[in-house]
Amino acid sequence: MALLTVLNPSVVCFLCLILCSCGFCNGGITGNFVRKKYSPDMPLDSDVFRVPPGYNAPQQVHITQGDIDGRGVIISWITPDEPGSSTVLYWSENSNHKNHAEGIFVRYKFFNYTSGYIHHCTIDKLEYDTKYIYEIGIGNSTRQFWFVTPPRAGPDVPYTFGLIGDLGQTHDSNVTLTHYESNPKKGKTVLYLGDLSYSNDYPLHDNSRWDTWGRFVERNAAYQPWIWTAGNHEIDFAPELEETTPFKPYTHRYYVPYKSSHSTSPLWYSIKRASAYIIVLSSYSAYAKSTPQYKWLRDELPKVDRSETPWLIVLMHCPLYSSNSHHYMEGETMRVVYESWFVKYKVDVVFSGHIHAYERSKRVSNIAYNILNGQCTPVNDQSAPVYITIGDGGNHDGPALGMVEPQPSFSAYRESSFGHGIFDIKNRTHAYFGWHRNQDGYAIEADSFWFHNRYWNPHGKYFVASY
Ligand SMILES: [Fe+2]
Repeated sequence: MALLTVLNPSVVCFLCLILCSCGFCNGGITGNFVRKKYSPDMPLDSDVFRVPPGYNAPQQVHITQGDIDGRGVIISWITPDEPGSSTVLYWSENSNHKNHAEGIFVRYKFFNYTSGYIHHCTIDKLEYDTKYIYEIGIGNSTRQFWFVTPPRAGPDVPYTFGLIGDLGQTHDSNVTLTHYESNPKKGKTVLYLGDLSYSNDYPLHDNSRWDTWGRFVERNAAYQPWIWTAGNHEIDFAPELEETTPFKPYTHRYYVPYKSSHSTSPLWYSIKRASAYIIVLSSYSAYAKSTPQYKWLRDELPKVDRSETPWLIVLMHCPLYSSNSHHYMEGETMRVVYESWFVKYKVDVVFSGHIHAYERSKRVSNIAYNILNGQCTPVNDQSAPVYITIGDGGNHDGPALGMVEPQPSFSAYRESSFGHGIFDIKNRTHAYFGWHRNQDGYAIEADSFWFHNRYWNPHGKYFVASY
């Protein structure tokens, strides 16, 4: 530095360029866009929160995958006044034959709040790649929706996933959801990265904000499955209110098919969908050696058959790699426990939320480190996943602006803007990822990346000319 200070500025710039080209400054790109500081909640009388007409009409309708391989769907909804019916009437678009399935309903109390009647009904043995119409409710308050089942799992089945995290219920949340819905890539299933309603930020964890959020996302979540991941805003642990059962509102409202992947908790589970094997983990449940989540993941990873589902995707709320000082190192303990497995089993990508920004890593690992050798710098590793954080769906908490400088070498692209992602699987060798920024009201693809499958195309040997 002493040398640099005695040189004129142009020489300093030239030297910096030389050093960077030699790899001394090998961090990636930091986007210039920064979203506004504070995003206010949509008012309670907003049209997106409107209660559907009719006495006791079903509301907050949402669906998710209902089994391991995509032939089942869990349909969930709430009736506010009385139980009504838990029956789902459903039929294939090409058939007049109507089927019935019987569900259940549950309720819960949270301090001074009592939930409506939360219905969950699993329909199964559906045909693949078929549009179904379903009807819920009774009398004059019935409502109809539809969904499309995925194709049968197979190595070259194309499929398009959307990625949304930390959505909340602000005006920007609404913009993010609209951008996702209007994206010409047409996501067919949302991989949701945790932090849903942010109701715990309201006085007494106002659970009516879980209801408004459920009504807000219904316009999409009733028609395509949302694959749920629990975030810290789902914990709802409030001993000051004598509420000490973690995840109580979330687990009553959002059922997932955890038993079909032999999990013992709805907070971690897996599904197959088209050519993807998706593993959902819980950043806020025990994950160290000998815990239930650890044992489940240890037994789950060897089961993945890449000749059936080439794309191995992991979802968790808290990222393992982040160059943002906000929530800094919160994922570090899980990284220490699970990263070597992700490398061993060649996970293609780990998607997270939590940090209110976007970031994509290079393929790196940091598994050589132990407390004796001091090798604590991530290294390039072509068996490692790409880590992508999409934690800025529109929440009211403000952006994560504290990016660590200089941008570390593992970070390929980062930016503090609202947005959503699209993971577009083409075949067993290629998938295209795009991140779409909300900034200025336009859905721009601000960052993109061609994925070469870690199992079938780790060296990028195969090209896809037609894309
Ligand atoms: Fe979070």
